Amino acid sequence: MTFDFKDKVVLITGAGSGLGYACAVAFANAGAKVAITDISQNALDKAIVALRDTGTEVLGLLNDASDSGDVNILLDAIITRFGRLDIAVNNAGTATPLQEFHEVGEAEFDRVIAVNLKGVWLCMQAEIRQMLKQGGGRIVNMASATSRNTYPNASPYVTSKFAVAGLTRTVAVEYAERDIRINAICPGNVATPLVVSLVDDLSILATKHAIKRLGTPEEVANGVMFLASDLSSFSTGSLLEVDGGWNAI
Ligand SMILES: NC(=O)c1ccc[n+]([C@@H]2O[C@H](COP(=O)([O-])OP(=O)(O)OC[C@H]3O[C@@H](n4cnc5c(N)ncnc54)[C@H](O)[C@@H]3O)[C@@H](O)[C@H]2O)c1
Repeated sequence: MTFDFKDKVVLITGAGSGLGYACAVAFANAGAKVAITDISQNALDKAIVALRDTGTEVLGLLNDASDSGDVNILLDAIITRFGRLDIAVNNAGTATPLQEFHEVGEAEFDRVIAVNLKGVWLCMQAEIRQMLKQGGGRIVNMASATSRNTYPNASPYVTSKFAVAGLTRTVAVEYAERDIRINAICPGNVATPLVVSLVDDLSILATKHAIKRLGTPEEVANGVMFLASDLSSFSTGSLLEVDGGWNAI
């Protein structure tokens, strides 16, 4: 299936690698103008070069999704460059090394909650303020299969992703009558740099999924594009599982 986002302005946070990068490429290939952020200059620079090769218009910003000052600068930059924001994918995320709950340090917990939860909160506030001005928009939050399921030894991460699910659903209801649709995608595991840095044996991870393999970044990007498109026009506050049947087991 091909999507058409011709001339839509799409923001993807944390798009220097992994799922965010795949989303940026997918939207660019579907005709969108993309604004991408990352906290890694190196990752950001590589992504900008690759995206420009698709012929799309790209705005790349070194930007921390968990910092309100940065997020305000980001929205100002998008409006200055493109004049509007049609779609936002709040993807930036991080995790702690896997460890038992009683061993997790407070600073590690705070870091994961700051990026994965407060980052989505801050970005959604800034995005919705703009979407209200322009009369609508679409938001897709990067939740997780662990937004509804357990993952032992990943308590800060699971806590943050459960919270993103609740935040998505509550805020979606608040703006449902103002043409701002807000949904979340719940991927199973994909072998991104984040996952590879945490897990030694990806084949064991694959067995968590009913399909018995990991997902691909493109499979997740397809779900994100569905939620951002008019094909999902009756969906808001939904959590779309793209998890190879993990949550169905
Ligand atoms: N890979 C998976 O299996 C999987 C599954 C479910 C959900 N997710 C979620 O998908 C999202 C992307 O994860 P990924 O696997 O692609 O990881 P990744 O590490 O490959 O990519 C994440 C990117 O976000 C950037 N980033 C981190 N903190 C940031 C911040 N504060 N502001 C801006 N950018 C920041 C990183 O530098 C990195 O480039 C995360 O929210 C993650 O929780 C991933």
